[in-house]
Amino acid sequence: MNPTPKNKDKRNDAMEKLVSLAKRRGFIFQGSEIYGGLAGTYDFGPLGVMLKNNITSLWWKRFVDDRDDIYGIDAAILMNQNVWKASGHVATFADPLVEDLKTKKRHRADHLLEDAGIDVRGMSAQAMDALIKEKKILSPDGNTLGDVRQFNMMFKTNVGPSADDDSITYLRPETAGGMFVNFKNVLDTFHPKLPFGLAQIGKAFRNEIAPRDFIFRLRELAQMEIEYFVKPSDWDKYFEHFRLQMHEFISKDLGLSGEKVHELEIADVDRAHYSKRTIDFEFDFPFGRKELYGLAYRTDFDLRQHSTASGVDLSYFDEETKERFIPHCIEPSFGLERTLLAVLANAYQEDSLGAEAGDEGKGEVRVYLKFAPKVAPIKVAVFPLLKNKPILVDKAREVYMMIKKDLVENCGVAASSIVFDDNGNIGKRYRRQDEVGTPYCVTVDFETVENVDPQTGPTVTLRDRDSGKQERITLPVLTERLRSTFKRS
Ligand code: GLY
Repeated sequence: MNPTPKNKDKRNDAMEKLVSLAKRRGFIFQGSEIYGGLAGTYDFGPLGVMLKNNITSLWWKRFVDDRDDIYGIDAAILMNQNVWKASGHVATFADPLVEDLKTKKRHRADHLLEDAGIDVRGMSAQAMDALIKEKKILSPDGNTLGDVRQFNMMFKTNVGPSADDDSITYLRPETAGGMFVNFKNVLDTFHPKLPFGLAQIGKAFRNEIAPRDFIFRLRELAQMEIEYFVKPSDWDKYFEHFRLQMHEFISKDLGLSGEKVHELEIADVDRAHYSKRTIDFEFDFPFGRKELYGLAYRTDFDLRQHSTASGVDLSYFDEETKERFIPHCIEPSFGLERTLLAVLANAYQEDSLGAEAGDEGKGEVRVYLKFAPKVAPIKVAVFPLLKNKPILVDKAREVYMMIKKDLVENCGVAASSIVFDDNGNIGKRYRRQDEVGTPYCVTVDFETVENVDPQTGPTVTLRDRDSGKQERITLPVLTERLRSTFKRS
C-alpha cells in the first residue's frame, strides 16, 4: 500500500534527521561532495568506519571465526567476463527502465508503479509497460513515459589498453562469483568435507537506475556473503540453520529490535534466476519495510554453470558413499551499508532529558543513538570536569589510559573506541557523546582528586547514556562495570 502523505512526511522527517546527524557527527558524507557529489555513492567518516568495522567483525566472528566449517576468501573485484556470462548476470541482471520522453530522465518502472499504489510483485517488464500505458502513468515531472525495457546493472569496463570485446570486464555485481570460482582451490588445498562454506566481505557494484533512500540503494556497496556447500538432500536442513543464524546475528550481535524484522518468502516469479527458494529479511526502515538481507538456495546452479563454461570439473567426491556430484549451495547474503542504516535507524532516539538533567541544553530535545555496546563506535569517553585545571586533566588522562589498556586487553575493543574529550563544557560533551551513541562517560572532578578514601581509592562519576544518570564509583568498580558491558561473548 502507498504511504499516506502524512506518513510520508513523518518518514521523510525521520530520514532527514538521521542523514543530518550522520553528517554532523562524521558517520557518513555524500560521495565526492566538494564536486557536487556522485549519485549512489557515499563516503564514510571516522565514526562510520568504526561502526562498519564493528559490524564486519561481529559478522566474521559469528560466521567464520566461531565455526570450523567456513573459510575466508578475498577475491579480486575484476574477474574474467566469462564468470558473469556463466552466472547469468550478463543476460539477466537487469531492472525495468523507463524514460521520461521530455526530460530524458530515466526511472525504475516498478518504482513508478509502486508509487502509484500498484503491487508489482511477479510482474514482467512487458506487463509493467502495458500497465503504465493503460493507467496513463506519468513521470515524476508529469511527462509521458516511453517503453519499458530491461537495463543491465553491471558496470562494464575494459581491462588493459585495448577496448575490444575480449577486454570487456565488469565490476562484480555480487561477491558470490569470487567464491564459486575458488571452490576448487579451497577443496584442493584444505580438503574440507561437506558441508563447508566460503565467506567474503567486499565491494560490489550495481549501476542502479534510481539510487535512493540515503545508503539503502547504492551504486557502490559492500557485501558480506557466504556460499555454503551441502549434499543435495541436505539443503533444507542448512537453509533452516542459516535462517536461525541470521536472526541471531540481527538480534544478538546487532541488537536490532525483533519486531522491526520480518521474513518474506519470495514467490517463484520474483526470485533471482539462480534461486529455488529465497527468504528476504525485511526491516522497518524510516522510509518503509524493505529488504535487509537475503537467504537463497542456489541449488547446484553456479558450480554447474562454471564447470560447464570453464571446462574445469567442480564436482565433489564423497568418500563415505563413493558418489561424485556437484554440491548444492545455500547463500546468506548481507549488505553492509543496509546493516549500518538499520543499526543507525534502530538506535535513533529523542527524549527530554535536557530538561530533566538540569545541565546545558535544558528544555531542548535530547538526541541520542541507543547502540548496543558491541556496535557502538565509541565505547567510553573520559572527561576532566574543567579543561583549565591541570590537576583534573592529568588525573583524567591517567584514568583514560587505564580504561583504554584494560578494555583493549580484556575485551578486545579497538583502542580508538576509548576517547578523551575536554572540548567545551561538560553539558556539551555529554550531548556530543549521546549523539554518537557512547554508552558511558566517565568524569574526573574535584572529588576525584581531593576526597580520596585511603581504603578504596579515588572515585569518578559514571554516566549512563540511556538514563542520563550519574553514579559515583571507585576505579575497581568502574573497571568491573566496563568489562562486563564490553566483554566479547
Ligand atoms: N549474492 C546475492 C546478491 O548479491 O544479492
